[in-house]
Amino acid sequence: MKNAIAIKLSLGISHLFISSLLLVACTKSSNSTANDIPIGIAFAQTSNVALLGQEGTDGVKIAQKYFNDQGGINGKPIKLIFQDTSGDETGAINAFQTLISKDKVVGIIGPTLSQQAFSANPIAERNQIPVIGASNTAKGIPEIGDYVARVSSSVAVVAPYAVKAALKQNPQIKRVAVFYAQNDAFNKSETEIFQNTVKDLGLNLITVQKFQTTDTDFQTQVSNAMNLKPDLAIVSGLAVDGGNLVKQLRELGYKGLIVGGNGFNTSHIFSVCRALCDGVIIAQAYSPEYENKINTAFRQAYLKQYQREPPQVSAQAFAALQVYVEALQSLDKKRQIKDLTIPQLRTELNQELLKLTYQTPLGEIAFTPVGDVIQKQFYVAQLQMEANGIKGKFAFLNIK
Ligand code: ALA
Repeated sequence: MKNAIAIKLSLGISHLFISSLLLVACTKSSNSTANDIPIGIAFAQTSNVALLGQEGTDGVKIAQKYFNDQGGINGKPIKLIFQDTSGDETGAINAFQTLISKDKVVGIIGPTLSQQAFSANPIAERNQIPVIGASNTAKGIPEIGDYVARVSSSVAVVAPYAVKAALKQNPQIKRVAVFYAQNDAFNKSETEIFQNTVKDLGLNLITVQKFQTTDTDFQTQVSNAMNLKPDLAIVSGLAVDGGNLVKQLRELGYKGLIVGGNGFNTSHIFSVCRALCDGVIIAQAYSPEYENKINTAFRQAYLKQYQREPPQVSAQAFAALQVYVEALQSLDKKRQIKDLTIPQLRTELNQELLKLTYQTPLGEIAFTPVGDVIQKQFYVAQLQMEANGIKGKFAFLNIK
């Protein structure tokens, strides 16, 4: 029997489930891990994007426990295999290659940034392995290929809510200054939506100021904009650069409302701009207060572990793993997934996941034929910082 396994391995036949069964059959001490279903998690664990990556990791870990406690995939547990994408394209490509070829996962969740997805997702596509974005919000992500889907709603859908909420708070707004990180795909995509929304709402786009996600000094951009006397500032950046820009806007005396893009959608922003974050308006694809069974369970688990409300990206990452779990359960009922080779399972899983509807912490979601998420509820929150400037919260606004 052992020889049989050795021959199989030396021939490089990647037949996970049959190999697992052979292993179980010939080693009585084998435990269920040989029968786990491996899902690859490609999030940033290092770099300036690590905080966002950590929020994704928190979400999938809670989901893994939740679904495995309920029996996993008809008795087979889900096993998460993590590979660090770091914050750039090379990191994401390496993580995808390892997950696909070495770890032999059946599907991938990630990468953290859209900028990384445009480079790494074509690798998943070529290898015919499903990939679900949990935080990729740039336009054009699902269109990368047949194996690419996402649960993170596009900036095109989400961003306009924040501008409308700002106008509701201050109907006098006329002059809008826009800032964006020009070296990042998602921020370039998001600013386009913000700029179009400003024009569509009949507002005056007085200036567009560019920066880099690695910048720390924004005095030039802020001064340029302030000279033109804006009454709304809209910032598309990642948490650290975007938060610092907000801080410098306030330090240089800007008094008007500020809209932050999806990069601000993390409580880690609090430690960047502290008290000066107060009042920033951010659209949301998730509300901790959304009432359904699974969000209640997710929120309770998150609160218990972290003593704060779950952020959007954690909820989206939970939903991404839920999509894999429920699609695998559904597939396994139709035909036993243990009878499929890994390439067959990857392809059938990809087809199955696009067909179903899911009750997730984000509410009910499904997919368009190209793999973009169909989601019903969106929200807008405003940052409320405590007087000490250390703690804060996302206060949800009534946008009806
Ligand atoms: N929403 C950000 C992106 O798509 C993280 O890159």
